[in-house]
Amino acid sequence: MTDYVKFLRDTSPYINTHRGKTFVLALSGEAVAHGNFTNIVHDIALLHSLGIKLVLVHGAKTQVEERLKTSAITTKFDQHTRITDSASMACVKDAVGSTRITIEAKLSTGAVNSPMHGARIQVVGGNLITAKPLGVKDGIDFHHTGEVRRIDQKSIQKQLDNGAIVLLSPIGYSPTGEAFNLNYEDIATHAAISLGAEKLIMFSADQGISDQQGNLIKMLPLNEVPGCLDNLNGKMALQHALMACYQACENNVTRGHIISYSDNGALLEELFTRDGKGTLVLKSGGETIRPATIDDIGGLLELIEPLEEEGTLVKRSRELLETEIFRFFIMEHAEGTIVGCAALYPFNGSDCNSGDSAELACVATHPEFLNQGIASRLLEHTENQAIQQGIKKLFVLTVQASHWFKEKGFVDASLDDLPIERQSLYNFQRNSKIFCKVLG
Ligand SMILES: CC(C)(COP(=O)(O)OP(=O)(O)OC[C@H]1O[C@@H](n2cnc3c(N)ncnc32)[C@H](O)[C@@H]1OP(=O)(O)O)[C@@H](O)C(=O)NCCC(=O)NCCS
Repeated sequence: MTDYVKFLRDTSPYINTHRGKTFVLALSGEAVAHGNFTNIVHDIALLHSLGIKLVLVHGAKTQVEERLKTSAITTKFDQHTRITDSASMACVKDAVGSTRITIEAKLSTGAVNSPMHGARIQVVGGNLITAKPLGVKDGIDFHHTGEVRRIDQKSIQKQLDNGAIVLLSPIGYSPTGEAFNLNYEDIATHAAISLGAEKLIMFSADQGISDQQGNLIKMLPLNEVPGCLDNLNGKMALQHALMACYQACENNVTRGHIISYSDNGALLEELFTRDGKGTLVLKSGGETIRPATIDDIGGLLELIEPLEEEGTLVKRSRELLETEIFRFFIMEHAEGTIVGCAALYPFNGSDCNSGDSAELACVATHPEFLNQGIASRLLEHTENQAIQQGIKKLFVLTVQASHWFKEKGFVDASLDDLPIERQSLYNFQRNSKIFCKVLG
């Protein structure tokens, strides 16, 4: 099998998941001006071809700054908000109009030698955002700087249903017939919330959010966002992007993503690979991971019994669970429900395969909490626990979740690779697939 065939097969679950869903993509003026923007447009066209409903929101700060400089106009800022007087507003209209045209032109490409050949994308926009003035705050008149009052959700939905890409520019109109300079992150957040979007994707100069050591945070539960925002002091653009994801996820958008606009293919990698390329902000209800205790048996059985009955998990009696409960880690929802579990069984044998290895078992997520990163977090936690116990290799046996484990770095293994003590317990009728992962 070629890499190409494997790649296509691996992406098919994502294609099915994303089809028909609404994604809001937010690009700053800087992102539109970047050399990689053409590649982003190609990837947007691909998402459109795959049946994803797309709303693009663009900024134009870089382009506005250029025009202000050329016209020798200086604008004032109050806490990073531009005070748009009449002279500046003329530059804003000019810059926004021209940026919009650049995007529309790129989305209209159809040359035979371009990846967009045959895409025939219809881009629509217009007076879809109702704005209101920021007004006078602490004695400062913000003139033509406004904020979003309403998004015309029905019209946008209709256009999306008709197969168009909706392009929203950072200008809104008031019922009095005035135009206001708006913040594109604000528009993207409002649009994602009012459309009940599946994803809000913020393009950023950085790869995503990094921790204090500078390592990229791949998955950020919503309850950890406030702490991260505090650590982003001085990184305004990232703070805004993270804030937008936070507000969107707080208001029922399923996922927020922060990805790089300069990294060719980051959008596709983020959407079509398990590990992604940027930071994923996930709605979570303040779940915690802890070792299971005997009091958790009832909750654990509720979680795993349905999976045992359908044959996905091996059957464990209550008695067995009681004796093995100390092997389990559980994820508990803020309200006390057990929403996920995983168990770690170190091998004790003396054969060459036993040393420093363990079996990962009973990885399961409550059906109502699937696709929220629960199993991923439990796996990460269990792997860390295993490393702390000196375990160097993890085995897993599964009938249903082979791909999930493969995408988490597990590789195919055979019965012979298992420790002898586990080989003798292998159920040939069940015919589980065996995988292993070297830790550390
Ligand atoms: C596999 C399982 C644990 C994943 O739980 P989860 O909490 O939804 O997992 P995460 O949220 O971390 O990951 C979800 C992602 O994995 C994908 N996924 C879920 N099950 C998958 C499977 N069987 N194969 C491939 N991908 C799968 C989802 O589509 C989602 O992808 P996305 O992020 O691109 O949207 C869960 O489906 C489950 O309980 N399965 C039954 C029990 C089982 O088979 N356990 C393994 C034997 S030990």
